[in-house]
Amino acid sequence: MNPLNPLNPLNPLNPLNPLNHLNQSQRLRAVQAPVIPIVGRWTAETPGTISLGQGVVSYEPPAEAVQAVRRFGSTLSDHRYGPVEGLPPLVEALERKLAAENGIAVRPDSCVLVTAGGNQAFMNAVLAITDPDDEIILPTPYYFNHEMAIVMAGAKAIGAATTSDYQLDLDAIARAITPRTRAIVTVSPNNPTGAVYPESALRAVNTLCRARDLFHIHDEAYEYFTYGGVTPFSPGSIAGAAAHTISLYSLSKAYGMASWRMGYMVIPASLHEAVNKIQDTILICPPAASQHAALAALQVGRRHAEPHVARLDTMRHAIFDALSQADVPCDVPSAEGAFYYLVRVHSSSDSMTMSERLIKQHRVATIPGSAFADPSPCSVRISYGALDSESVIEGLKRLVEGLRALA
Ligand SMILES: Cc1ncc(COP(=O)(O)O)c(C=O)c1O
Repeated sequence: MNPLNPLNPLNPLNPLNPLNHLNQSQRLRAVQAPVIPIVGRWTAETPGTISLGQGVVSYEPPAEAVQAVRRFGSTLSDHRYGPVEGLPPLVEALERKLAAENGIAVRPDSCVLVTAGGNQAFMNAVLAITDPDDEIILPTPYYFNHEMAIVMAGAKAIGAATTSDYQLDLDAIARAITPRTRAIVTVSPNNPTGAVYPESALRAVNTLCRARDLFHIHDEAYEYFTYGGVTPFSPGSIAGAAAHTISLYSLSKAYGMASWRMGYMVIPASLHEAVNKIQDTILICPPAASQHAALAALQVGRRHAEPHVARLDTMRHAIFDALSQADVPCDVPSAEGAFYYLVRVHSSSDSMTMSERLIKQHRVATIPGSAFADPSPCSVRISYGALDSESVIEGLKRLVEGLRALA
């Protein structure tokens, strides 16, 4: 269903939308209701549903991270406020990781800040660089929390179409720039599409930002999740990019630490004061226990994710093969990253209805593409990160049957 359709529960103007009650600010009225709880409700109402919905991984953090928290709390300083930007040993470990893995030399032109997850890092960035009615360009389909953060800050999210295989369209991005534009956002590997942008495309966006005096916000939450020899590229590593590039990271997926709320951001030195003000007000300091866990996780490093990524690759192939069969009424653009496919369904139903019916009639949960402002009339996002292989295969079987029956 079109997000602007008054019957769409996500439409902020729909009187049935639970967010539309007295006292809510105009700014918040304009923010879409998060879709995950709606899908969660349908799922809870349909016992036995297999969820290919939420974007989390099935594995736990390294044991070392949990042990670090068991040791935490023995000194008084563990219980006091810490530095706004994060505990020094963690910040130093992140700087080493950024240099070794992302090619980003942090100081002196930029700095690292530990945040309560990648979402908070994005919000910090938006608050630091926008005034009300400023614009931020999001290639569509986009990660809905990015759009929500922009609207919440009183700025405007401007969509820029991507190609049919969800790659960046530089012309569409350039056409979306106006005098009010402050930043272009890229997410690679991408949520919701699984697309990984090649180095050339990210360099082109970064050069465009530099030429037009814009920030390039690049989200690398899924940096460890690429397949088939594809490697992600960090635009923060480009010579001369530090002054206009904001890079965002998360431990939620890489280390299976979603509930620990740990992320970090690399910001230009010119934004240090602004971001410090925001973080000091919203968070004061990142949670100390989680920072100790994060430091221990970083010492284990990316090898923690590697065996899981290999298993996810097997799932990725299985899903692509099953949904590419001639009699399954959908298009599956290839996806070399994250753990998502955004599938276009050949149906006269809208995305919300399709997602609801797949749950209620076929007991498999997906996320409707309309939540990501996917322009195709009917699409669903499939996540294969959260479940063991057997459950993914069973969910896939139900999905294939459901699409055949409903489309
Ligand atoms: C692109 C992207 N960025 C950020 C996040 C949120 O990460 P965190 O849990 O670190 O806030 C997600 C979560 O799904 C995501 O898909």
